[in-house]
This record gives sequence, structure tokens and C-alpha cells, in this order.
Amino acid sequence: MTNRTPLIAGNWKMFKTCPEAVETAGQLVKLVAATTDIDVMIAPPFTALAPVADVVRGSCVSLGAQNLFWEAQGAFTGEISPAMLVSAGCKYVIIGHSERRQYFNETDETVNKKIRAAINNDLTPVMCVGESEKERESKDTFSVLDKQVKKGLEGFSSDDLKSLVIAYEPIWAIGTGKTATSGQAQEVHQFLRSVLEKSFGNMLAKSVRILYGGSVKPNNIAELMAMPDIDGALVGGASLDPETFSKIVRFKE
Ligand code: 13P
Repeated sequence: MTNRTPLIAGNWKMFKTCPEAVETAGQLVKLVAATTDIDVMIAPPFTALAPVADVVRGSCVSLGAQNLFWEAQGAFTGEISPAMLVSAGCKYVIIGHSERRQYFNETDETVNKKIRAAINNDLTPVMCVGESEKERESKDTFSVLDKQVKKGLEGFSSDDLKSLVIAYEPIWAIGTGKTATSGQAQEVHQFLRSVLEKSFGNMLAKSVRILYGGSVKPNNIAELMAMPDIDGALVGGASLDPETFSKIVRFKE
């Protein structure tokens, strides 16, 4: 048993205009209003953050961003600073999603800088890690994850990482309908906790929330959440519909 509060997070990726995002968030707030023992977060696209912040204010739904840039300000056309996210109402920020690593050249080094920037601005970082299908088949899953965690968190103290959330998202399970079995996910989550323990000690390893992501749906969330080291989910496709996402949030009912 753990005392980690579960976190169910929705990553909306590049979906929803401002009116669509406001509508979805409004419905979600109503559907999950009675939720007390679970943290809920949604990460709309940047353009919808401020309007959605107005909708979720005072509710049990928190706001997250899908990315940030590590500099405080400057001539960085197209980038968004941590302070901008805070001022738009964000509490969380997703960092190093596999789509960003794959399409936008993010590396463990940039992930590391972004986590530092998030922490320095009191944003809760949700660091994404995960192996490709090829890496799993060649039995490199653990070495790939070990490197992603160690490099992504290089130079931090356990105190720095008090708010850290890790999301394990096997790339082969994202948007494919192929969920890792609860046993496969548990095995990796336990491994990730052991990596944290070696680098940052038992206290931190026990307190960091590790989410699973990859084709999470209302019909598989309960089985995943029954695993001792799975503390929540990072949901893509199934977070876009408020009814469906609320069923994931309310998996215990
Ligand atoms: P899906 O839930 O659509 O597989 O996406 C998972 C994901 O990438 C969440 O960040």
C-alpha cells in the first residue's frame, strides 16, 4: 500500500480549438465534481490554456501544459516560458513526451533542462519515458529506461524532485490500442522506482508518482490501477471525450 494520491491526467495533444476546449473542460468539471481522492489534470494545447483555466478554477481539475522552454524570456520565436504557463494557470507540465522526442528532436539533455525550469517555477513536471517496440523486442527496455531516467534527472537532489511525476509510456502502446498488460507495466514501474531509489534514496522513490500511458481506456484502467507501483494514468485519445475520460477518473465506482 502507498500513500501516493493517484493522478489521472489527460494529454489533449494537438486537438481542440479554444471553444472546443472550453466546452470539453466544462463538461468534465461537472462529471468529476464528486471526485475527492484522486488528482485530475488536463493538458490542452497552449492556445486554450487561459480560457480553460477560467473553466476549471475552483474545481478538482488542474491545468497542465504539454511542453515548455527552459529560458525565462528572450528572442526564442515560438517558444513558451515557465512563467507564461504559470500565469496562464498551469500547475503541471508534461516534459519529454515521446512525440516530442520523435518529431521535435528532444533529448534527455533538453528534458533535463526543462525539468529544472519547471521546478524553479513551481510547476510539477511530468517526465515521460518509454521504449520503442524494437527496443522491447531486443530486450533493451530496462537499459533504455535507465538511461532516460538517469540523464533526465542528472544533477538534481532528492529535495529538488519532491513534486516529480514520471509517466511510463511504451511507444508501441501509444495510440495503437495495444495496452501494455498490467503485469508488463507493473514490472517497469517497479524497475523505475528501483532506479530512483539507487540515485535519490528510498524516501523519494516511494513518494514519486509513476503514471502509465498508452491506450488507457475505461475498460483497462481498474486493472492497471490495481498494481502496487501504478499511481495513475496519462491518457491521450480517451481524454478528448469528457464522458470517456470521466469514466477513467471514476474507475473505482
Ligand atoms: P493514447 O492514450 O492515445 O494511447 O496516448 C497516450 C499518450 O501519449 C498520452 O501522453
